[in-house]
Amino acid sequence: MLNNKTVVLGITGGIAAYKSAELVRRLKKKGAEVFCVMTESAQQFITPLTMQTLSQNPVFTEMFGKVHHWNVEHISLADRADLLLVVPASANIIGKVSSGIADDLLTTTIMATKAPILMAPAMNVNMYQNPVTQRNIKNLKELGYRFVAPGCGDLACGYQGQGRLADLDVIMDTVEGLVEDNKPLDRKKVLVTAGPTCESIDPVRYLTNRSSGKMGYAIAREAHLMGAEVTLVSGPTALKPFSGVKLISVRSAQQMYEAVLKNFEDSDIVIKAAAVADYKPSEEANDKLKKQGGDLVLKLTRNPDILAELGQQKKSQILVGFAAETKDVINYATEKVKKKKLDFIVANDLTKEGAGFASESNIVTLIFSSGEVEKWPQMSKNEVARKILSKAANLSKEKECEGIG
Ligand SMILES: Cc1cc2nc3c(=O)[nH]c(=O)nc-3n(C[C@H](O)[C@H](O)[C@H](O)COP(=O)(O)O)c2cc1C
Repeated sequence: MLNNKTVVLGITGGIAAYKSAELVRRLKKKGAEVFCVMTESAQQFITPLTMQTLSQNPVFTEMFGKVHHWNVEHISLADRADLLLVVPASANIIGKVSSGIADDLLTTTIMATKAPILMAPAMNVNMYQNPVTQRNIKNLKELGYRFVAPGCGDLACGYQGQGRLADLDVIMDTVEGLVEDNKPLDRKKVLVTAGPTCESIDPVRYLTNRSSGKMGYAIAREAHLMGAEVTLVSGPTALKPFSGVKLISVRSAQQMYEAVLKNFEDSDIVIKAAAVADYKPSEEANDKLKKQGGDLVLKLTRNPDILAELGQQKKSQILVGFAAETKDVINYATEKVKKKKLDFIVANDLTKEGAGFASESNIVTLIFSSGEVEKWPQMSKNEVARKILSKAANLSKEKECEGIG
């Protein structure tokens, strides 16, 4: 969330300026206070009135215009900003800022602020690839400016290539990451698994489960926001990972096993939120199975138990499992903590309303290796994720201290 954060949004003269209107709406929805600064060219593409209405604040366009209050405008905006965004960023503004030019309200505010600055360039592919633009971006990056690279595709100018404004989802993810002050997982490597696995019967059929992946994706997102380097090993889902999270896509339990083991040694915290199939068809048919008279009996074989294997190989990692059950949740979960050498397990009762697979919220109980039990009330999956990660971060810190002591 961006509650209590002030975002100064600079808008420059490009076709993608219209997208800044939607960006303001999204920033406001997340709780940010937004002040727009528009260059003269930007006002050729979108009106200050639109931005004023959406931001619910005055829009700043002139260096030497009428003052809104006694403060010098560019200094007051520069000081108030928790983040300064330039969306879209024209080739012109990138060049000007890179050269230290401050000849209008936006460039002067950029020069005067100590807040992080994030630019999202949008321009014709040739303008973007022009060595001068590339050199300017490189210069600014070296000076600590952040960029969200433009995407590829059809451009408004009729060209094709890299130059269209990055997806607003990606810009929003980056914004949230930049204003997050609380980074207890800084320099930690977190490995998360999510989603279901699919076990092939033949080329068109498979066995799977109802996992949506939402819990694991929320953990990956929050871990990234808390400063961790995150690897997400995911079975097939309809979700898009948070930008900045490294995604490894897998289908079967065997593939998930291999991907997780490959990344395990290097991880500090491992959270296994995936719903991994315990069994797979003993044989995968090369051709589609034909309908026959009578019943079909499928023989199933055990899949590797990823969590148990990690428990065996565990050194200093914090290992967290999930238990999704429909009865006797606490007993099953407690047994799993011991058997698989987990630091703690997150148990959820799939029969409870507001908990489990496709739900936006979850109701969980944590069971620690010490035997301690914590029951949490219903919370959004993002909140649950953040609290789980805080517990894991504390345990990891305790382990580090033991190591030193
Ligand atoms: C129709 C039109 C579309 C433009 N689109 C872009 C664009 O997408 N990106 C860009 O860098 N410049 C674009 N320009 C050029 C800029 O508007 C021009 O460089 C201007 O000086 C930018 O000023 P500013 O950076 O102060 O906003 C466009 C110009 C026109 C006339």
